[in-house]
Amino acid sequence: MQNLTYKILEKHLLKGKLEAGQPIEIKMDQTLTQDATGTMAYMQFEAMGVKKVKTELSVSYVDHNTLQNGFMNADDHAYLQSVASKYGIYFSKPGNGICHQVHLERFAKPGKTLIGSDSHTPTSSAMGCIAIGAGGLDVAKAMAGIGYRLTCPKVVEVKLTGTLAHGVSSKDIILKLLELLSVKGGVGKVFEYSGEGVKNLSVYQRATITNMGAELGATTSIFPSDEVTREFLKRQQRESDYIALSADEGCHYDETVEINLDELTPLAACPNSPDAIKNVSELAGMKVDQVAIGSCTNSGYEDLMKAAAILKGKKIAHNVSLVVSPGSRQVLMKLIENGTLATFVSCGARILECTCGPCIGMGQSPKSDAVSLRTFNRNFYGRSGTLSAGIYLVSPEVAAASAITGVITDPTTLEYADEFEKEQSYIDDSLIYAPSKDPENIEIVRGPNIKPLPVNTPMDSTIDKKVVIKLPDNITTDHIAPAGAKVLPYRSNIEKLSTFVFENNKPHFDEVCKENNGGIIVAGENYGQGSSREHAALAPMYLGIKAVLTKSFARIHLANLVNFGLLPLIFTDKSDYDKIDEMDELKIENVNSLYDSLDLIVENVTKNETYKVHAPISQEDIDILMAGGALNYIRNQQ
Ligand code: F3S
Repeated sequence: MQNLTYKILEKHLLKGKLEAGQPIEIKMDQTLTQDATGTMAYMQFEAMGVKKVKTELSVSYVDHNTLQNGFMNADDHAYLQSVASKYGIYFSKPGNGICHQVHLERFAKPGKTLIGSDSHTPTSSAMGCIAIGAGGLDVAKAMAGIGYRLTCPKVVEVKLTGTLAHGVSSKDIILKLLELLSVKGGVGKVFEYSGEGVKNLSVYQRATITNMGAELGATTSIFPSDEVTREFLKRQQRESDYIALSADEGCHYDETVEINLDELTPLAACPNSPDAIKNVSELAGMKVDQVAIGSCTNSGYEDLMKAAAILKGKKIAHNVSLVVSPGSRQVLMKLIENGTLATFVSCGARILECTCGPCIGMGQSPKSDAVSLRTFNRNFYGRSGTLSAGIYLVSPEVAAASAITGVITDPTTLEYADEFEKEQSYIDDSLIYAPSKDPENIEIVRGPNIKPLPVNTPMDSTIDKKVVIKLPDNITTDHIAPAGAKVLPYRSNIEKLSTFVFENNKPHFDEVCKENNGGIIVAGENYGQGSSREHAALAPMYLGIKAVLTKSFARIHLANLVNFGLLPLIFTDKSDYDKIDEMDELKIENVNSLYDSLDLIVENVTKNETYKVHAPISQEDIDILMAGGALNYIRNQQ
């Protein structure tokens, strides 16, 4: 008797044993990249010297950086298109939609494995597959046919009973879990959904939940593939991709959480963390300045239809700016066809491209001190582009209701139709380009924004550096390598991008690193949470950071540090964190001894004291670290 997660993992197991906590390696059937992480992933893939991707399917999406204020983004898009064509990868053009929405609609298949260079890749697991977010280098390795190494996860059953009431949405299910478990609650775990309540959730609703499983820090989340899945695939004209998949009756789960949907009420994640949950009724009446409906979390057909049902025939409040970004061109075309787009425009909404847009700080930064209601998945400090704004994460229903009243509004009190006909989806894949049949003749386009890939040097046997920054708990990849329209165009230009590292925590951090010939980062719990952005490891590597010493790491960032040859260490006694100050000199001798023991001693030369530390890594990770990162390691092996 097996749970669904282990059933799929077993079919893909290349190395190791399916026991929670053990290292395993699995075969990846599909890959996806988005442009902000994709350029680097493809440069790494090119450096591996493989002629054609070895996966069943690989797709390159352009959805993050679609503003074209200069040549940089357009250069990157041209590079991505040419690389995809040459190496056997499908290319989804800007305007075709957000990677996770499009992948769910057009490519995700029950029973398959998917790795994506974006932390919300688990969105596709709503389809009954194992979809995992990772750094770009791990995706490049999967494209080269190398298995993906991970810690075999614990499996948590999330048993859903009851039915969602009018005005309550699947967003509230995942916000409830975040309230119960926190942003650290899912580390090393897969959340597997079961129970009667699952049957009443559509694939789009399931996708909202699996999408935001990333905010729990989970490896992934998964729903069974059932009649609801089959119906969805039928509407996508790909019923032949359907297979029924579920957990065996009475199978083992490491933990069980129960949520009674009958008892759920609309919730909001308050600034600045997705687990700072309050009831919408508690916040009701708070003045709202901006409402944004979209992102890979809530921009599916049903999300926008529900928002439109509330907005129909109404006008937005004078104090509110409402923006709507459909998740895919398919959804946008359907809204045009059935007249719903007119509802949005008529109520006063501004329609944005089918891209990530404001979610990644690409425009629509709110005004100073604004209250911004967003249907997105992240509300980290500064991510909107306005440091003083407070971002509240809510369902499309709460967002739409509040856009009309101008204050936070509980939609359960409103009358509107929340059922609509399940129509055939609008299918048109003309903006998804198949790879070339004549790859030899495809030239890779490299504009001036595509700079050579920086590569680390092999690990020194002694690390002797200053603590160039000391950080608190829950530092996100947004803190380390900020996003936004100012920074993202340089994702293929690490020299320039590194000037923005920690710019909101410590301005001119890059200069501090240069003056001290690199350094060591010291931080609290859950360091590197948030996105899969490998620039958060790559840019510090470029600045000469050799080790990162924390109380704990977020999963993807830990893997990214190893991939780029930065030594990750955790305090054995967490109170030692308090004893270290910025600019203390730390010395780690005999790094090679990691092969004998993962426990090391850090000497604080400035304070004349020592701390026990542990490297949370596998034996193969040590080889990678010693080589100075995965790219060197792979090259050495060839
Ligand atoms: Fe894009 Fe935001 Fe999702 S940046 S992929 S819409 S989390």
